[in-house]
Amino acid sequence: MNKKITILLLLGITFFFWQCASKKSISQLQFPKDSIDLKVDSVLALMTLDEKIGQLVLFTSDWESTGPTLRATYKEDIKTGRVGAIFNAHTSEYTRELQRIAVEETRLGIPLLFGYDVIHGYKTIFPIPLGEAASWDLAAMEKSAQIAAAESTAAGLHWTFAPMLDIARDPRWGRVCEGSGEDVYLSVEIGKVKIKGFQGENLLSVNTMLACAKHYAAYGAAQAGRDYHTVDISERTLYEAYLPPFAAAEKAGVKTFMTSFNELNGIPASGSKYLLTDILRKEWGFRGFVVTDYTSINEMVPHGYAKDEKHAGELAINAGVDMDMQSAIYYNHLKKSIEEGLVKVEKVEEAARRILRQKFELGLFDDPYKYSNTEREKQKMFTAENLDFARDVARKSIVLLKNNKVKNALIPVLPFPKKLKSIAVIGELANSKEDMLGSWHGSGDAKDCVSLLQGITTKIGNSTNVVFAKGCNVEGDDKSGFENAIKAANQAEAIVIAVGEKWWMSGEAASRTNLDLPGVQLDLIKELVKTGKPLVVVLMNGRPLTIPWVADNAPAILETWYAGSQGGNAIADVLFGDYNPSGKLPMTFPRNVGQIPIFYNMKHTGRPLALDNKYTSKYLDVPNSPLFPFGFGLSYTTFKYSPVKVDKTTFSQNEKITVSVTLSNTGNYDGEEVVQLYFRDLVGSVTRPVRELKKFEKVLLQKGASKEITFSLTANDFAFFTQDMTFKAEAGAFEIFVGGDSNTENSVKVTLK
Ligand code: GLC
Repeated sequence: MNKKITILLLLGITFFFWQCASKKSISQLQFPKDSIDLKVDSVLALMTLDEKIGQLVLFTSDWESTGPTLRATYKEDIKTGRVGAIFNAHTSEYTRELQRIAVEETRLGIPLLFGYDVIHGYKTIFPIPLGEAASWDLAAMEKSAQIAAAESTAAGLHWTFAPMLDIARDPRWGRVCEGSGEDVYLSVEIGKVKIKGFQGENLLSVNTMLACAKHYAAYGAAQAGRDYHTVDISERTLYEAYLPPFAAAEKAGVKTFMTSFNELNGIPASGSKYLLTDILRKEWGFRGFVVTDYTSINEMVPHGYAKDEKHAGELAINAGVDMDMQSAIYYNHLKKSIEEGLVKVEKVEEAARRILRQKFELGLFDDPYKYSNTEREKQKMFTAENLDFARDVARKSIVLLKNNKVKNALIPVLPFPKKLKSIAVIGELANSKEDMLGSWHGSGDAKDCVSLLQGITTKIGNSTNVVFAKGCNVEGDDKSGFENAIKAANQAEAIVIAVGEKWWMSGEAASRTNLDLPGVQLDLIKELVKTGKPLVVVLMNGRPLTIPWVADNAPAILETWYAGSQGGNAIADVLFGDYNPSGKLPMTFPRNVGQIPIFYNMKHTGRPLALDNKYTSKYLDVPNSPLFPFGFGLSYTTFKYSPVKVDKTTFSQNEKITVSVTLSNTGNYDGEEVVQLYFRDLVGSVTRPVRELKKFEKVLLQKGASKEITFSLTANDFAFFTQDMTFKAEAGAFEIFVGGDSNTENSVKVTLK
């Protein structure tokens, strides 16, 4: 621990015990729970009010901008001792430089916390989170978070603003790319492993970092899928759909929460005592600290909830916001609010304690520079093992949406044979490195990415003539490249066309009302399908797209999302059969935007669709069914499910029920299948969704092999927020489904007594 702090700590501890002794009786004092609390209190005892408020202040460096404002004076601000954390500053060298200012040029030398958006990798970039979710491989997702933590902590970072836990049922919202899709259970399980991957077992370890459950809460329910828009949902929907991943994150020990930009039922999240104190602190018992999203405190003024910035600060701190990201409202106004008696100093001290605690847990008071180590940075970054793993996760994230035969072929289009004489690779995205990164790509560098064209050329370029023709851009109506592309296609044995969105068409502030393929990409696909040749459409996109013509007419479709640093190699592995695709959709693909919101676990209604009855719930122009359902994904092999079996058809509240199926690989390839268990509560004190995912297991089966898959359920698995909002299972009939996607009809009925 640096000398200055040691001396100050000793003074502080002495001062603290003197304070205790001077109180009427020790018993009136709530003694710190552990030695860290003691240390925190002794540091706090030394701090001026300005310094205490300073711990609540988070500013961005000017290295990157991830929001609407920048503050050029952040280095000078650090020198005043009134800044507790910096984000968007990384590398060992730069974090060391800023840390030195805080530790050596301020009165108390309290170390800074360095935060950054390490969302799907720091330097080695993994598939976007929605893509990783499509792998349904929890171990892989935990490991990718571990690698991201190892790389980012080697670059001086202590804190990542991840995982993003927003349930997303509206693909018009650009930020669906950052989360785990529409399902509560899948998002809960992924959030838990991500937190474990980032925070590890011991935060003192230099390759672990604070995680951040964001954006709390219900940000994904923005009206019309328009980013930052109003959220107005029932308490039931909030508790059933949007809060569970955050409740699970708190239980998993996440150290920080980030408030969302949106209002929730009239109250902006950053000013919501209901969210930040009643639920988060009192109901869930959260002990970490709450940071706002970028300038979201001062945004309570345009929200029309605060009359001015000072008022916004009072609303935020009194609601339970500990740290103010970038709005400088705590920095500029909190002291005056305290002097006016509008904020109690205890509120500030409580927030400062929570933040100081995390700095102690990270070991920053022992060695403020422990993370800023250039030698470690060189060793840990972008290693061969990290890249190999990135390729593996990317492969597992790819979803095979269609794989038919063409004309009089005997076998489906994919996998392509490696002995092709020639292959045409078409589309702007096929030759793009930057788009492999996706949004929120941290410190990932396009130059380090493998494009699809490179991946294919590396794999078969020695024996196959690989011809690239852009054909058209993602955007715009220029078809002048069509002729060349069609010519290349006519001269090739097989065709790969990469289409989708540019990476910046999803992510923050990137909502879209039209989810068709942008530009003239679809026109190009139509021209190429006319060749009648083996053709695969490779999708590169950050959200579900409305591609009904492609789904009906292209012989094969691969959903590859933005597959990360090794994306081109991973997609080539799948295209040429070195990996059998195993991904399953974490989000429903609508037929058109008019169907949105559409998600698998909707309600049955009182007039469920009946094709022979006019007066039932349907559209006149499209079916109710989606283009591709949640949980859907094909394989190069085929899987067969036996009928669902249960060890009992009636069970009581304190009994468990065992559900099993025999899964058989009936095709010609070894392959992985995500066995999914859903149930429907047929009658409840409130209406219940037609399906709810409750268990899944990703299983590798050799071709010709069979395996019994069993799941154990207890009454708690059937619990829900009943009519009076108590969380419990109600007696009654349930239908349990087990299959390869949310449409499975493979079911059995059971009764909970
Ligand atoms: C952005 C995002 C948030 C991110 C933060 C810091 O506006 O909403 O997800 O963590 O600012 O970059």
